[in-house]
Amino acid sequence: MDHSPLSLFGLYSSRALAERVAERLEISLAQHEERNFEDGEHKARPLQEVRGHDAFVLATMHGDVAESANDKLCRALFFCGALKDAGAARVTAVTPYLCYARKDRRTKPNDPITTRYVAALFEAVGVDRVIAMEVHNIAAFENAFRCPTWHVDSAMLLATQFAPLLRGKNVVAVSPDAGGAKRAEQFRQALEHLLGADVGSAYMEKYRSSGIVTGTLLAGDVRGKVAVIIDDLISTGGTLLRAAQACRDAGATAVHAAATHGLFIGGAPELFTSPLLDGITVSNTVPPFRVRSDATDRLTILDASETLARAIVACHGGS
Ligand code: R5P
Repeated sequence: MDHSPLSLFGLYSSRALAERVAERLEISLAQHEERNFEDGEHKARPLQEVRGHDAFVLATMHGDVAESANDKLCRALFFCGALKDAGAARVTAVTPYLCYARKDRRTKPNDPITTRYVAALFEAVGVDRVIAMEVHNIAAFENAFRCPTWHVDSAMLLATQFAPLLRGKNVVAVSPDAGGAKRAEQFRQALEHLLGADVGSAYMEKYRSSGIVTGTLLAGDVRGKVAVIIDDLISTGGTLLRAAQACRDAGATAVHAAATHGLFIGGAPELFTSPLLDGITVSNTVPPFRVRSDATDRLTILDASETLARAIVACHGGS
């Protein structure tokens, strides 16, 4: 059991989510300031004593109009470094959406393995531990870091949303690619547990090269069933639409899509107009600022703050 005081900081760009997490923890966010300089440089510092504290820094790292993913990463790194220099006993970076988590392996000769370089940066500024939610590949994430990591999955968060809607229905959990099969399986098990009834599984073939996506095979039985496609993130929406088309072609009666992080690049307009999908569910790890306000009737946004708060409590009380 850690008896050092817990301080939770929320970088300005992640303030809304950090406030919610603090509420769940029944604490106030710790005070800090961030300043921008005329030349584009910046600084952040704690405005309270952190010596001996178990400090958590919440920074979700999607790019937006104000700050790129690189900016957010850089700000979080520098602030974590400042906390270490100010004497924090332990600093944990809480990254609900961790940027570059998709670039976890070489897909072309001489490709960068950017997840590993990001890990090295966190370690270089003295971060003791990193919490991330629903990364692209858990094993790659864990192996990239030498410091301890804590992966937060969203299977139960999503299953809790879907269970009341799908009770009494014949349901199948679908992964839109082979790499996501474990994620869909976790969701399937969570949903089966909540429904107290069998939930099927299926997955889709997908290859991506130079931005071109191919593969049409759908393995698993979706005929006459409600399909729930599960992914880590929605970027352009292309992956989900391909999987939705395959499910419809194979006889699914309804198709829902669910992902933890909704980047919705370009607004992903087809996702919100396509008759292939009955609904899209994401969490608030990334705010849906790119989605047109008149397209949101199909969109459900779940609050990830309780899931994140539980991870912080577990980290503070445990390892
Ligand atoms: C890739 O393997 C990821 O898990 C997602 O499936 C992918 O990033 C989604 O991208 P998009 O929405 O552009 O198809």
